[in-house]
Amino acid sequence: MCGIVAYIGPKDATTFLLEGLQRLEYRGYDSAGVAVLGKSGALKVCKTKGRVADLAAALPARFKGTTGIGHTRWATHGEPSDANAHPHTDNAERIAVVHNGIIENADELRAKLTAEGAVFRSETDTEVLSHLVAAHLGDGEGQLEDAVRAALKLVVGTYGIAVVDSAQPDRIVVARNGSPIVLGLGEKEMFAASDVAALVRYTRQVVHLEDGELAVVRADGFRTFTEDARTVTRQPSTVDWEVGSYDTGGYEHYLLKEIHEQPAAVERTLSGRLDERFATAHLGGLNLDARELREIRRVKILGCGSAYYAGEMGAQLIEELARIPAHSEPASEFRYRNPVIEADTLYVAVSQSGETYDTLAAVQEIKRKGGRVLGVVNTVGSAIARECDGGIYLHAGPEISVASTKAFTSTVIAFALLALHFGRIHDLSPADGRRIVSALKALPGHIRQILEQDKEIAELAAKYADNAGMMFIGRVRGYPVAREGAQKLKEISYVHAEAYPASELKHGPLALISPELPTVALVPDDELLDKNLTTLGEIKARSGRVLAVAHRAPEAKLADHCILVPKSEPELDPLLLNIPLQLLAYHAAVALGRDVDKPRNLAKSVTVE
Ligand code: F6R
Repeated sequence: MCGIVAYIGPKDATTFLLEGLQRLEYRGYDSAGVAVLGKSGALKVCKTKGRVADLAAALPARFKGTTGIGHTRWATHGEPSDANAHPHTDNAERIAVVHNGIIENADELRAKLTAEGAVFRSETDTEVLSHLVAAHLGDGEGQLEDAVRAALKLVVGTYGIAVVDSAQPDRIVVARNGSPIVLGLGEKEMFAASDVAALVRYTRQVVHLEDGELAVVRADGFRTFTEDARTVTRQPSTVDWEVGSYDTGGYEHYLLKEIHEQPAAVERTLSGRLDERFATAHLGGLNLDARELREIRRVKILGCGSAYYAGEMGAQLIEELARIPAHSEPASEFRYRNPVIEADTLYVAVSQSGETYDTLAAVQEIKRKGGRVLGVVNTVGSAIARECDGGIYLHAGPEISVASTKAFTSTVIAFALLALHFGRIHDLSPADGRRIVSALKALPGHIRQILEQDKEIAELAAKYADNAGMMFIGRVRGYPVAREGAQKLKEISYVHAEAYPASELKHGPLALISPELPTVALVPDDELLDKNLTTLGEIKARSGRVLAVAHRAPEAKLADHCILVPKSEPELDPLLLNIPLQLLAYHAAVALGRDVDKPRNLAKSVTVE
């Protein structure tokens, strides 16, 4: 949510800033801006409502400098507009600030600064930072890093910031508290960003700031220190992912690429974790031995949006394989309801980005009350991963498209591994363990088979895309699939989609069924097949149209169209049933001309409340 980039070195900063912003645009895309300091130290700012391409078009020809910061925004305080776009400056146009996060006491600070003479030109919370830093610099020769540190002491809230001062063009000051900042180390040049995606083309050597840390970044190096000015030493680490992982790789959209990357992502999530000898899973990062795991009586899974739905699939896997009560709840609700934290409950936080603020806050609340939390996280070293007591990394690779696909699938795989591990510690038989192990190994091939139907699914999507809405139904294992399918369709195609347990249809929503509201029905070949077929009959009897996603095509009188999915073991079927729904949503969105990777009003990584 919002992206930050910064450059200091011998080259023109603007080139890196614009390219970096383009790479971070998935994190926010309603306005963008840059500020650079030329050799003379003059501060130049250009910002605009719209996309990074609009910013590039708006840049004056002589907009050059060797020190610069940039920002792509997802509006929280104030509508998307030129004035509200970052960077924000002080009245003397000496300081420029870009900021991710929320300053909770912005109103109070604004009132105080206004009384002292500051004139605000935007509705943002961020602007208080530029005036505050300027106020701490005064007219004297104070160091920028000291002024930023003093200003942040007065701030309540979350931030990742980058600050430049036209009187000190030899440095950029960055700070982190709840919103990531990564330094990139170059040859006589330095970079900073809110996400390594902006850096990988330029350097693989990075330093992740911790919460409560600042850094003063110069062309020839950096110094990290705490809010109370204590110097801390940070060793650089090397980014694992190839530059190509951050490109569309010849696909029309990141989303399509990420859907097609799923077999490889699943292989990586499984890699080295299956133990054929004992028919179980090895999960080195759990930090819980078998004895401790046996003491767990309940599992509570927390995540937001698709991560929550993946958690619902995970809860079913844990209940089925380990026979431990498990439940998934939106982290965004959990954190506000003064939850009861039990010693024998294992809490599991799910997050692709590892940054989602609601999930992070839920983890912090559990830990504050003495609970034990595992993370199922994609982004290595992210805030949630660091906050948890242990966990499972997905290794799905960078997910750039706003809508989650491969991380969703890898999360379900991670839960299958956890459930298998738990199950084999409890009463899952070796034979059942072997059944799950071999089914997991077969999943990448099964997913490839589904992806081969891309063209046919695109044709079906075109047939169904122009309806005002769609119903998604599934029973028990199929219900989380229906929820995730509806979520994917609505977020990228803007077609209203409603998910219901198939069993609940006749308790209300059957009233909605008409030829204008088609139903996507999950119809696995399992013990509930007959019940599902009965539901299809009830829909067809009300002139409803049915698109079945099934292991065997239902009779023509029960479904208008069918997408066939290879059969796995019943516990793992939901994962495969979900894949065609991703393609369906993708192609519906393309057919409707939507901005597939950057759907309106949304952004990747929701780092605000
Ligand atoms: C939907 C989607 C969102 C995220 C949610 C949590 O396609 O991407 O619903 O799943 O915002 O994000 P993470 O997993 O990063 O915590």
